[in-house]
Amino acid sequence: MSEIENGEKPLLLIIDDSKENLHFLCDIFDEYRKSVTVSGLEGINLANSLKPDLILLDILMPEISGFDVCRAIKENPDNKDIPIIFLSGKSKLEDVVKGLKLGAVDYITKPFEQEELKVRVKTNLELKASKDLIKRQSEKLAELNEDFRHFLSIATHDLKNSLLVIQGFTKLLTERYHKFSDSEKLDLLSDISFTGEMMFKIIMNLSYVTRLEEGKVQPYYTEFDINYLLDDSIKYFKEIANSKNININYINKIKQLSVFQDLSLIKECIDNVLSNAIKFSPFKTQITVIAYSESINKDMRQMFVVEVEDEGPGIKEEEQALLFKKFARLSSPSTNHEITTGLGLAITKMIVELLKGELSFSSQFGKGTKFVLKFPVNVD
Ligand SMILES: Nc1ncnc2c1ncn2[C@@H]1O[C@H](COP(=O)(O)OP(=O)(O)OP(=O)(O)O)[C@@H](O)[C@H]1O
Ligand SMILES: [Mg+2]
Repeated sequence: MSEIENGEKPLLLIIDDSKENLHFLCDIFDEYRKSVTVSGLEGINLANSLKPDLILLDILMPEISGFDVCRAIKENPDNKDIPIIFLSGKSKLEDVVKGLKLGAVDYITKPFEQEELKVRVKTNLELKASKDLIKRQSEKLAELNEDFRHFLSIATHDLKNSLLVIQGFTKLLTERYHKFSDSEKLDLLSDISFTGEMMFKIIMNLSYVTRLEEGKVQPYYTEFDINYLLDDSIKYFKEIANSKNININYINKIKQLSVFQDLSLIKECIDNVLSNAIKFSPFKTQITVIAYSESINKDMRQMFVVEVEDEGPGIKEEEQALLFKKFARLSSPSTNHEITTGLGLAITKMIVELLKGELSFSSQFGKGTKFVLKFPVNVD
């Protein structure tokens, strides 16, 4: 943990049986947070629970020696990167070697040279902060790499399978054209067209996800009445829902609300959540859409909220963590052969974050799902 990283001062754990030494050390390290103890055993517990950024450890203590404390602290693999500096009156070479072999990074002899002690602690803290940063970055890189491999393998698999369908059906049609009836030909052609449409959607969504991830999508803010956007989307989706005998119950509590937002990005989020509700719900069910505005207490920001609740299959608890991941096509299929790329919610989540909104959901498997979208009425 470095000061630069999160604004929090580094934490020193000082273990020394002499209260006088503890006072002295606390005074000279007044710029850091400190936890101190005169007991070696308590020091071990504090190291395990507090995960300090550096430990100053006395060697000669009555109940347990500093070497044994060091050994016990380093036995816990979580503590392996915490630098320990030994403090001691002893300066014999074998003690220095023993301390360093036990995993200490430095060794300072009493009486302390104040400036030397400060510099050594500062250097070791900076070293620890750089190591922590490198560790976090390489973990993040490994995670991104893994994510990317997964993403690429699904995209390739989807596109390859779709191409195989198109290739297979066109071959069939050309080779046995005269053996098929007109309606069979039409069926094959519509399958080819559907598959092509799906490939196109995957490619468009893929390039959109990539642009969002690279920060290349920037909001374009304008002023508009939110009802204009909501009414327009509801009108469009009511027609689609009608074809599945699904009723959309639209309750709009916003009389008139002028917002300063990115119209098309917000529309994309609302449309995806609405299209999902229709896509995964069985015929003859109901979808309730409620729109309202609210103030968030902590900073009095005004938000507009859109809730979309369906009576569809719900999302299994074990699948819920995957919902916003790319290519998250979960176990409930679309109910009328609609296209599913599994990218819509990943895109929605990224847009919501970009616009400083909030996206949440609750779902009961077998009963239905409710998505809640919130967006600030004005950009700060
Ligand atoms: N309302 C819902 N009810 C049940 N399952 C849902 C619901 N919304 C999403 N899902 C599940 O989550 C998956 C991911 O949804 P998402 O919107 O990301 O992709 P999609 O709808 O499959 O494809 P796209 O949005 O790109 O057309 C869906 O495939 C579906 O399995
Ligand atoms: Mg979707």
